[in-house]
Amino acid sequence: MNETSGNYQADIHDTGYERFYLEKRLEGSALLNISGRKTESLNGKWNFAADLYDTCRRASWYKEETADPSGRPRPPDWDWEGWDRISVPASWNMEKPELFYFEGSGVYTRTFRYVPHEPGERLHLRFEGASYRTSVFLNGEFIGTHDGGSTPFNADISGAVREENRVIVVVDARRDPRRIPMENTDWFNYGGIYRDIFLVRTPPVFIRDWFIRLVPDGKFSTIKADVFLSDKAAGGKALLEIPGLGIREELALPGGRGQAEFSAKPELWSPESPKLYDLRIAYIPGASGKTADTVEDTAGFREIRARGHEIFLNGKRIFLKGICVHEDHETLGKTTTPDIIRAAIGHLKEMNGNYLRLAHYPHDARFARIADEEGVLLWEEVPVYWAVAFENPDTYRDAENQLAELIQRDRNRASVIIWSVGNENADTDARYGFMSKLAAKARSLDDSRLVSAACLINHEKLMIEDRLAASLDVIGINEYYGWYDPDFDKLPRILANSNPGKPVLICEFGGGARSGQRGTAEDLFTEDKQKDLYEKQAAAFKKCPYIAGVTPWILYDFRCPRRLNRYQQGFNRKGLIGQDRKTKKLAFEVMRKFYGEMC
Ligand code: GCU
Repeated sequence: MNETSGNYQADIHDTGYERFYLEKRLEGSALLNISGRKTESLNGKWNFAADLYDTCRRASWYKEETADPSGRPRPPDWDWEGWDRISVPASWNMEKPELFYFEGSGVYTRTFRYVPHEPGERLHLRFEGASYRTSVFLNGEFIGTHDGGSTPFNADISGAVREENRVIVVVDARRDPRRIPMENTDWFNYGGIYRDIFLVRTPPVFIRDWFIRLVPDGKFSTIKADVFLSDKAAGGKALLEIPGLGIREELALPGGRGQAEFSAKPELWSPESPKLYDLRIAYIPGASGKTADTVEDTAGFREIRARGHEIFLNGKRIFLKGICVHEDHETLGKTTTPDIIRAAIGHLKEMNGNYLRLAHYPHDARFARIADEEGVLLWEEVPVYWAVAFENPDTYRDAENQLAELIQRDRNRASVIIWSVGNENADTDARYGFMSKLAAKARSLDDSRLVSAACLINHEKLMIEDRLAASLDVIGINEYYGWYDPDFDKLPRILANSNPGKPVLICEFGGGARSGQRGTAEDLFTEDKQKDLYEKQAAAFKKCPYIAGVTPWILYDFRCPRRLNRYQQGFNRKGLIGQDRKTKKLAFEVMRKFYGEMC
């Protein structure tokens, strides 16, 4: 443990105190696929304190030492049950006015009771999302630390749990140049346990994860299944059943993992026909044939491929008619709900769209599940955004772990067709090495999807040129001609000058407009200027054969501390709908018409 806590003054001088909390990591390698499992919610009111100097971790409050080693009383600085209470899940910024700009460490605590249901069962504490660095303590024991503000993580707490328990969670929301994302972004830094938190019980050895998909060979007739047990030393077999396809396949599980390919003729999943099949996997450890664990999920079978300048869904060319979305709500911050997700999909469909770019980080897990049901295609992304510390190995480890957690969480979702390894990063050798390695990692975790990133235009040569494109299946391009670069005529020249050899997605374009602000096409932040810009952009796209999709920036105005002029007032106003998520701007109709006219 933190050897300096023996002397009450020691923690004041221990500047390296955080090292101890980084020795035990909660990472993707231990991530559970919890689909179909019963969960016991720990959502609700938690006691909370804004611990700006990170004293809870410096002084090891979780040990609740109220006497020094010689037994003399030591006055505590914590007061678990005396503190205020805030909601979980919630972005703490939206819970109390004094927390709006809080970016330090928040200390959450509550008690809970636990009675085992089965002998030998394992108990896991699961977070769907907490931002950014989360250290977990239970009954005076340090459990582990997770880095990353948008991906799930879990801890096996079987060894520390009792009948009556106190859990303490420290969430450090500081922005930091070594983190993913780094300290400068174009969105608001919400903090806290802002997604669900719950307990999950499993047998001693259980099905930790699985990956079921169509083999992308253009024949749509082979399903590939991977099953992973919690224990690499365990053997036995798994029984995969997909009743809707009459499939009952056994997989041997040597070394705790099994893989099988088998024929099937599924009805293919698509935006027009989002067909989902129920599936069930049973784990049978030994010769007895007794089932030790079962999980359930749904699966949509489809194939996504890139060939030449085009993208093919189930063998048919598709144009991705989309728009970008942030996870940002005027009153809930980064916390979302199924209704909010469905409303965004409703606006996309009103725009005749079929695709969403979930920028710039993994969104709530429910988004991909709802997109599976609604027939919406998704680009999902890790926040390797702008100038991350590409030369720092710890930064790479953080990025790779967040990518692994995202892919493991969502690779069974048919709606997800693209993994993006980053956004708008300057072309240096360190960036090229970092992101091409990340792209390779994505492919190693998922052989069935496209890999992309928002790449660069060579503004000198006026052409699409980014060496990272060699590592990608699809080239994303952010361009703001008509807004940040007023010389709109550069765009058609760039498109004419370039021959990328792969499908290009214009993954960002746009301009700001305050809802209701009217004027001429020259007046900044008017709806008229935004509409004129969109009309010019749409006209340019129509003439370009290698653009395979478009996602304007962005569906809704969103909170952003960098945006401080009189029209923005702390919001990025490039939305086609205002921050109220209701009031459409003139440019919405431009995209609705553009997509509506497409095949
Ligand atoms: C960038 C960036 C976005 C940002 C947008 C803007 O391209 O990717 O995150 O919000 O431009 O400037 O509004």
